[in-house]
Amino acid sequence: MIAVLGSANMDIVTEVDRLPRPGETVVGRRICYYPGGKGANQAVAAARLGGDVVFFGKVGRDSFGEQLTVSLRSAGVDTSQVEIESELPTGTASIWVEENGENAIACVAGANGAVNGEYVRRIFDRLVEADVLLLQFEIPLQTIASLLLDLPPDRPVVIVDPAPVAELAGLPLARIDVLTPNRGELQRLTGIADLERAAAHFVERGVRNVVCKAGADGAYWMAERLVHVPSIRVETVDSTASGDAFNAALGCALMQKGM
Ligand code: RIB
Repeated sequence: MIAVLGSANMDIVTEVDRLPRPGETVVGRRICYYPGGKGANQAVAAARLGGDVVFFGKVGRDSFGEQLTVSLRSAGVDTSQVEIESELPTGTASIWVEENGENAIACVAGANGAVNGEYVRRIFDRLVEADVLLLQFEIPLQTIASLLLDLPPDRPVVIVDPAPVAELAGLPLARIDVLTPNRGELQRLTGIADLERAAAHFVERGVRNVVCKAGADGAYWMAERLVHVPSIRVETVDSTASGDAFNAALGCALMQKGM
């Protein structure tokens, strides 16, 4: 089983000719509402790839929350562990997308911010049944830090997506099997511009593998040495959640390999 502990957001997507600069108004072409959130995106993508997926997280008692739960379920994701926070709205992400696929995102955590230690205690027994656990940083980092400390040493395989980028200092790095920053995140987290040295920085501090997502350039895997894996060429339509799709595919691949 693949467990995803993370966020669910309603993505409010405005298509624009170009992203607005600070203080500027631009006229949008279209607005759409899509189920999103890094956690929910990873869960849906993993289920679409054939994974047996359970999503752990929270939504508000509102129509966005209902729509997100229905969308997870219709992708085949088990939502039995999703809790409803009566006092908080469902998480939202305002997204602007340019014609060339470039985007800018602002998130409001809402119920995702209440994915706390108490919730993790309630779901813990179910969570540790997982073979692979996918985590991202749209829920409180403190929740992730204590969960990592409580997990058994070898299972599940833990894949951490440090997005949106946040300091990893409080996390037990030795309990991370795969850390998956993109290039920008890796540089911001380490202050090191050279990709190989930046990835080695985390391996030296206990992370077992670093997989750096490099967009059209593919990915770079660092364990003992740096390995470049080229990408398959595709036409960019909208790069939103491409990193989430990558992590879901990685989780499914590791699951199939029985790692
Ligand atoms: O990674 C893409 C996701 O980030 C979007 O779905 C949005 O909800 C933001 O959280």
